[in-house]
Amino acid sequence: MTDQPQSAIVAEGLTKSFPNVRAVDHLSFDVHAGEIFGLVGPDGAGKTTTLRMLAGIMPPDEGTARVAGCDVVHDPEGAKHHLSYMPQRFGLYEDLTVDENIRFYADLFGVKKAEREDCATQLLQAAGMSEFRKRLAGKLSGGMKQKLGLVCALTHRPKVILLDEPTTGVDPVSRRDFWRILYELAAEGVAILTSTAYLDEAERCHRVALLHQGKLLFCDTPANLKAKLGKGVLSVTSSEPRRLRDQLEHAIGISSLVLTGDGLHIVVDDAARRIPEFEARLNNAHVPFNAIQQVTPTIEDLFVDAVGSGASFHAS
Ligand SMILES: Nc1ncnc2c1ncn2[C@@H]1O[C@H](COP(=O)(O)OP(=O)(O)OP(=O)(O)O)[C@@H](O)[C@H]1O
Ligand SMILES: [Mg+2]
Repeated sequence: MTDQPQSAIVAEGLTKSFPNVRAVDHLSFDVHAGEIFGLVGPDGAGKTTTLRMLAGIMPPDEGTARVAGCDVVHDPEGAKHHLSYMPQRFGLYEDLTVDENIRFYADLFGVKKAEREDCATQLLQAAGMSEFRKRLAGKLSGGMKQKLGLVCALTHRPKVILLDEPTTGVDPVSRRDFWRILYELAAEGVAILTSTAYLDEAERCHRVALLHQGKLLFCDTPANLKAKLGKGVLSVTSSEPRRLRDQLEHAIGISSLVLTGDGLHIVVDDAARRIPEFEARLNNAHVPFNAIQQVTPTIEDLFVDAVGSGASFHAS
């Protein structure tokens, strides 16, 4: 059907095992042209392994992957022509300048000089890096290095980009620049698959796949994912959060509960009913607390509700 969005990436049943672990377990999803799709999961969830298979640098044990219509196993060169992969540690040359790095990658991808200049000028401007063109890459901040990595990865104007935790450890201003570039690329029809261990970043994607131990837990828009927690999420703070937890963790109606530093986030079956019950319970036990409030669910609430609070995400 012609009115269906065009799938730029299609993964079907992708599976990869290492000697002691099944890193990716029958993973299926697709990413449309113009879409920013987040692969979201804690450390070890299988994000990098998935991206490596899609980039055609690690063969899957089972399953297939197509990028821009090319099978990455049977037609890796075809797929590589259309995609760009920015690994978790992108290989910048620290003793080359910003411009020289861009030139190096443009040559590698066979980009003509005039195209390279236009592209570099536009991207460096979007990245807020126009004045750093002569600076050695080794002398850039962490955030600027990541932005330069993205610029280098984009010199051949790929239809599909695969980014592995591109903003990990990046300062908030550079992260904002980075996301602005991603939105601009998406508006031009580029399909973007980005992994992240920041749950707030998951909320910026058009759609996200939540990964846990190589398996797909959920795949939907952030709004739909949060709507899945129809039950309601409560927030309560206290000067004694551990006593708060001890009192509430076995209360009726709780689906999951996580300590937030100064209190708890609690997923419940029925917020209106449980708030007065929990307040009475805490009052009876003389646990100090501030009023219990119903809050908008976050993707973290959904994740914790599905798999428990053991997973380690990055704090934003
Ligand atoms: N080359 C390898 N050899 C053996 N085990 C591996 C290899 N690569 C990954 N693994 C294991 O596979 C699992 C998934 O790893 P992967 O790197 O894909 O996760 P990730 O989601 O990218 O994690 P991180 O957030 O740490 O980057 C982990 O248990 C990891 O230890
Ligand atoms: Mg990784």
